[in-house]
Amino acid sequence: MATIKAAILGFGTVGQGIYHILNEKREELKNKLGLELEVAKILVTDTSRERVPGTQHLMTDNMAEILEEDGLQVVFEAIVNEEPAYTYLKQAIENKCHVITANKVMFAKHGLKLQALAKEYGVFVGYEATTAGGVPVIKTMKNILLVNDVSRIQGILNGTSNYILTKMRAEGWAFEDALKEAQRLGYAEADPYNDVSGQDAFKKIMILSALAFGEQPDWDDVEVIGIDRISAEQVKLATEKGMRYRHVAEVEKREDGTIFAKVGPMLVDAEHPLYPVDDVNNAVALETNYIGTLSLVGPGAGMYPTASVMVEDYAEIIGKRAGFVVRI
Ligand code: HSE
Repeated sequence: MATIKAAILGFGTVGQGIYHILNEKREELKNKLGLELEVAKILVTDTSRERVPGTQHLMTDNMAEILEEDGLQVVFEAIVNEEPAYTYLKQAIENKCHVITANKVMFAKHGLKLQALAKEYGVFVGYEATTAGGVPVIKTMKNILLVNDVSRIQGILNGTSNYILTKMRAEGWAFEDALKEAQRLGYAEADPYNDVSGQDAFKKIMILSALAFGEQPDWDDVEVIGIDRISAEQVKLATEKGMRYRHVAEVEKREDGTIFAKVGPMLVDAEHPLYPVDDVNNAVALETNYIGTLSLVGPGAGMYPTASVMVEDYAEIIGKRAGFVVRI
């Protein structure tokens, strides 16, 4: 049986989640795809730190070493920030590797370029994990866009913000305590400013804009407000009135062809579809011409939801070789 060689770039929460799932599902994936998978290398900045027992010999801090790995076909990328992730993925694609990323900061800015490059080199880019964690919004959109037009997307796209708002309301926790717990649970970014300022949700809605409309609005024209502007008193007052704060990102293509987006807190009542979406869940509502409005809800952050959709991307890309239907 042939073996697919893969590398993992970044071995924090998500990178380790990928490694665990690939190990746990090794036999199943082998049977389904008719191919073995070997994680041949893992890129980290500090090779001396042992993160997962038995992986130390796979560690390197040198991307060139990964690119030189004989027969490498897949690169999973779970690094934070734009660089060096963008450069590494370009290099991987130019080396004819499929790339699968969870990096929304990088992908919001360079996603369309990476996909064009991948087309040129005959490889695929999986990016389900960049947006809404375990919620399969990218593959759903790719499917419905084959027939439908999407005119508007609205959703809760940051699990940390939703978790904090939920705990402040339902448990009376202070903002800082809820944030600390979100960090402990692996929901928050390394720099949680990106979560609570709305920047993380902004990057995700830009990724969805690129997918739905093939373009993004000018980033400077998008108003981005985070939950850091909501006080405990405001949350309490809203609850007394039977309302809830949700942090909502939206983008729409207007009739004149312009793309409009905004990100910020919204007060919703019990009739609103986002009212019951609590904890780390994300929700995405897609307005389409034939289906009408389609809503997806599920865990928007965390090691296993995010890593799981990356392994799904892998199976979908590699499944093509086994004759499966591939949407990517
Ligand atoms: N920090 C992100 C969130 C992780 O809380 O939604 C998933 O992208």
